[in-house]
Amino acid sequence: MGSLPFFWQPLPLLLLLSLSLAWAQMRPATASLRPPGDPVCPESCTCQPSDQANCSALVLLAVPTGLSWRLHSLLLDRNRVRSLPPGAFQGASALLRLDLQENGLRAVHARAFWGLGTLQQLDLGSNQLEALAPGTFAPLRALRNLSLANNRLVRLEPATLGTLPLLRTLSLEDNSLDTLGPGLLATLPALRSLHLRGNPGACGCAQRSLCTWLSQHPRGPEVEGLVCEAQRSLPISPLSAFNPCAQSPTLRDLAVIYVIGPFSFLASLATCLALGSVVTACRAHRRRRAAASRLPWRPPDPKPGTPPAQAGVGNPAAAQA
Ligand SMILES: *[C@@H]1O[C@H](CO)[C@@H](O)[C@H](O)[C@H]1NC(C)=O
Ligand SMILES: *[C@@H]1O[C@H](CO)[C@@H](O)[C@H](O)[C@H]1NC(C)=O
Repeated sequence: MGSLPFFWQPLPLLLLLSLSLAWAQMRPATASLRPPGDPVCPESCTCQPSDQANCSALVLLAVPTGLSWRLHSLLLDRNRVRSLPPGAFQGASALLRLDLQENGLRAVHARAFWGLGTLQQLDLGSNQLEALAPGTFAPLRALRNLSLANNRLVRLEPATLGTLPLLRTLSLEDNSLDTLGPGLLATLPALRSLHLRGNPGACGCAQRSLCTWLSQHPRGPEVEGLVCEAQRSLPISPLSAFNPCAQSPTLRDLAVIYVIGPFSFLASLATCLALGSVVTACRAHRRRRAAASRLPWRPPDPKPGTPPAQAGVGNPAAAQA
């Protein structure tokens, strides 16, 4: 009897059995919150198909809580979510697409997107964002499309985006951006399409560094709405030096430039020649006058008592007389 191992003794066996029974009873209770095959659809949203929650235009004031890890798509566009708190999408760890357009969004916490490591498409367009904290998009390592179009962004630092290794499309059109450093592109190695139309700075000197970067990386992204786009596709023309914002030179512009250019060159050449010959003529004239004034040497008034013979030296007129 004493040789029986501990587990085969009746009391521990009973204990184990009751424990496993209790476990089995608990399992369905927890699972009933998120039944398999039927992801929790956020309240008042429709989920058709089941992994896509459509919560568009429901006048929601906040992101629904208790999001399911089975959700692949969450449409929250046209609501009234004014701010995103830290961990706003907690639970939705398999989300691929998130649409937050037209919410009047003003504030996004630096940790709002934490846990969205699989997200591929994020649309924050048509909101009222003025600034974004550094590191806001850093957790989104799988992001391919990011839209911040039609906001009020004044600056966008490389630190705000962080390194997004897979980002292909970045839409920044219709903001108030006046600077966009080349550092931004350096952290987006997969970028193929950058939309900048409708930003006041897109035509200014502030973008020169970006232009330079693009010209040095001819296989870099297609940039829409930036000066360089037009310049790069144009044959090198003198116009780009005059008006860096011209999309394409008109016939009149070209005529003016190609007529005034050679004309002003010829005019300046003629002016130089004329000035040069005037100066040369003046110098020659002065030299001739100096020589002439040296030649007819006049003797000083003869003092009383000096011999008159000296007066004739070097003075042919006097010698003849
Ligand atoms: C989401 O629902 C709205 C109406 O509630 C509908 O207009 C819209 O087309 C739906 N979007 C998708 C992607 O199903
Ligand atoms: C995402 O970007 C790709 C090109 O990179 C584009 O074809 C697609 O339409 C974009 N999707 C959205 C929702 O912007």
